Amino acid sequence: MPTLHVIDKALASLTADAIIVGIGKGKTRPLLTPGAQAVDDVLDGKLPEALKVLSASGSEGEVTRIATLGAGPFPVVAAVGLGAPDEGGRYSAESIRRAAGSAVRTLRGRRNVLNALAYEADATEGSLDRIRAAGEGALLGSYRYLAYKSKTPPARDTPAQRVDLLVANAKDPALKAELRRIQAVFTAVTFTRDLVNAPPNDLYPAEFARRAEVAGKAAGLRIEILNEKALAKGRYGGVLAVGSGSDRKPRLVRMHYKPTVRAICKIAIVGKGITFDSGGISIKPAAKMDEMKSDMAGAAAMVATACLIAELGLPVELIATIPMAENLPSGTAYRPADVITFRNGKTAEITNTDAEGRVVLADAIARACEDAPDWLIETSTLTGAARIALGARTAGVMGSDDLRGRVIAASERSGEAMWAMPMPPELRKGLNSSVADLINANTDRLGGMLVGGHFLSEFVSEGTEWAHIDIAGPAFNSGSAWGYNPKGGTGVPIRTLLATIEDLITDAPVG
Ligand code: BES
Ligand code: MN
Ligand code: ZN
Repeated sequence: MPTLHVIDKALASLTADAIIVGIGKGKTRPLLTPGAQAVDDVLDGKLPEALKVLSASGSEGEVTRIATLGAGPFPVVAAVGLGAPDEGGRYSAESIRRAAGSAVRTLRGRRNVLNALAYEADATEGSLDRIRAAGEGALLGSYRYLAYKSKTPPARDTPAQRVDLLVANAKDPALKAELRRIQAVFTAVTFTRDLVNAPPNDLYPAEFARRAEVAGKAAGLRIEILNEKALAKGRYGGVLAVGSGSDRKPRLVRMHYKPTVRAICKIAIVGKGITFDSGGISIKPAAKMDEMKSDMAGAAAMVATACLIAELGLPVELIATIPMAENLPSGTAYRPADVITFRNGKTAEITNTDAEGRVVLADAIARACEDAPDWLIETSTLTGAARIALGARTAGVMGSDDLRGRVIAASERSGEAMWAMPMPPELRKGLNSSVADLINANTDRLGGMLVGGHFLSEFVSEGTEWAHIDIAGPAFNSGSAWGYNPKGGTGVPIRTLLATIEDLITDAPVG
């Protein structure tokens, strides 16, 4: 894992194994950002010609590597495309974040890397956002999942060990807190990616709970783990039903953070933790079933977020309620037509055992509401329909108007793509059962993501502000790496959760 630093010395006086600069997409040729300009000055104005020879355009995702052959204090310049600037000549923080990730992924084998993506001679509006983006992108882009590789990869394949961000004033007191936040976010995202990428034969409910406990205790959280006995005693009918097909028994993990100062509000977080989703008796087709190891990405993100909030010492009380189960078919599995009773006494007739996420979440949300939180945020790889509607990179957000709006606004700051989704009242009828209070899956496939939201809303206490983030698309990247996103687990929506919680703190009513 690389370390991140800030530096404000003159470029000519610095040495490194490579330097990253941003170039924009201009009408006829790439545009030099201030960092690229500073490098060009050191290279005696030769950078535009080098970019031209190599056909660099400045488009997003493009990385052009130039050997300086002794002309500068760094052997390699990586000029990374930022796309076209806005009318003010500015690039979005997210384009900088992605560019930093692309550059770091390309610069394998370079130990010490200078990052001039957010460089400017004097701080201007949004400087700190761009520094955050350049730092986050570089660290997140360095991720690799090596836990199951029998050999350590060679040094020429190893990403940067140290990243120095070029800034106008390294002594700016705001930067110290910012560096700490970037590193903490990186740790949380890395933890989540590792959990999501872990194979389901090794990451089953009890083991997932154990890893949550280890991390939570290290962060100073109070941890409670309900095993199958405790789940039965607590009437968690949904978690038990979904977990009943597997020999690896379900768990419910509770993680409690209390700040040392007075808490501004109480936040409940809930995440779906299906360590493997075969569909159960309503079994899935074999194609891509392996990707269902990622069906615990919501839970992983919430475990990491609980640790992250504690790590940063934010002035909120936070309680995570995290159901973990494996959805398998077997002689003991729950089946279509079963009726189950949830923690809060409501009942559901199972029409499809593959709609298991909402079944475990119903219990978890009901339990979370017993703590009377001011806000409840839940995230899950809930529906394939979310991918049909929004594609693989955008999450769908449902819930009460205020909190849903705050999550969407936070996602615009964090750079994680999310879109607000409605819960049309007529879709609620699709969940009516002739036998129980609800069915768990509607028979037509209309508005599948929104029906999922409706089902969950049945378990949120009246008047509680809540949000549901369906991350079935962006939690797991089944394509190749892009920007700062590796193949596999991505860590979405941790950055938005943190930004939302920060907003709930700053925007709290005084009283
Ligand atoms: N875990 C899946 C949703 C999913 C699908 C996530 C693809 C990521 C990629 C979920 O448990 C599921 O199977 N949902 C069903 C619901 C349906 C039966 C109502 C779906 O989306 O088909
Ligand atoms: Mn399923
Ligand atoms: Zn699932």
